[in-house]
Amino acid sequence: MSDKHDAGGVPTTGHVWDDDLADFANQPPKWWMLGLTASAIWCVVYFLYYPSFGLSSTQTFFKGLAGWTAIGEMNADTSVVDEVRGKYEAKLKDMTPAAILADSELTEYVTRSGKVLFGDNCAACHGTNGVGAADKQGFIAPILRDDDWLYGGNIEDIHTSIMGGRQGVMTPHKDVLSAAEIDTLANAVAAGTPTSTPLFAEKGCTVCHGADGKGLAAMGSANLTDSVWRFESSLEGIKYTIANGVNAGPGSRDAVMPSFQAAGKLSDAEMKKLAVYVYKFGK
Ligand code: HEC
Ligand code: HEC
Repeated sequence: MSDKHDAGGVPTTGHVWDDDLADFANQPPKWWMLGLTASAIWCVVYFLYYPSFGLSSTQTFFKGLAGWTAIGEMNADTSVVDEVRGKYEAKLKDMTPAAILADSELTEYVTRSGKVLFGDNCAACHGTNGVGAADKQGFIAPILRDDDWLYGGNIEDIHTSIMGGRQGVMTPHKDVLSAAEIDTLANAVAAGTPTSTPLFAEKGCTVCHGADGKGLAAMGSANLTDSVWRFESSLEGIKYTIANGVNAGPGSRDAVMPSFQAAGKLSDAEMKKLAVYVYKFGK
């Protein structure tokens, strides 16, 4: 072995190739050795600290020196959340929806849970975020995002709609009106001017839709002078509604909003949250 393989006294492994290339037995760098040792120690500590190996003889496992469990960690987290929520929940228990609305912090809190409640309980009929969902009859349920309300759009009205449900009834007219009369009325309604024909008052439409045809909130009768439609808005669709009515037995249009109080599906607090959430739509 020649001198050119002498690197300050470091021995070679004895492997020399071509007389030029030798394999020295150097130690790895110090930082690397420290890292290796530290991670080995870390493994042992971690292994003992947390639940790790099974104890087959007893059908159980080594529970770790720290007594940590995943469920324990989750419970600790939820109790923090419960504490924050509990403060709000206790406050809104005795408040009316209108009082909640007047408190901006509570409104913020309520609107967040309202969004989830709406998705779970209301969106199937009213559409995601209340934009409406349609089938071939027209809208399954009214759009809640506009300012057109069948039963009134103040916070109490909305709360009442949710608690008690709604079911507007329009009697069928196919037996009391001729086809020509239905045609005249449908054309007047389609044009947004129902009162332009004397039939509107003569045939009793004003009893439910009001003398001006703008609808009566007490009955949930639609405003017939605007361009917002609940059911099919084609001339044929309007004729169908006039002839067959709404919620008036077979063949009539269906429009039933279930009572969430009667169904017992939602708590009082949840119905209040939803009232505020729906009221805040588009505002
Ligand atoms: C099974 C379908 C259905 C579900 C579920 C439903 N609704 Fe309705 N909702 C309706 C229908 C249909 C109407 C209209 C009733 C009518 O025309 O008389 C309505 C009416 C309303 C009204 C009155 C609208 C107005 O213009 O005055 C409000 C407010 C309302 N719903 C809110 C909700 C909320 C909040 C939920 C969830 C908790 C919900 N609805 C769940 C079908 C539904
Ligand atoms: C007994 C009360 C009542 C009478 C009478 C009545 N309506 Fe209605 N009508 C309603 C109600 C309630 C609704 C809304 C139903 C709903 O959306 O749930 C309605 C809805 C309608 C609609 C559908 C509007 C839309 O947006 O799709 C038309 C059209 C209509 N009525 C026309 C008439 C005409 C024309 C007459 C007279 C021949 C008449 N109605 C008589 C209660 C009545």
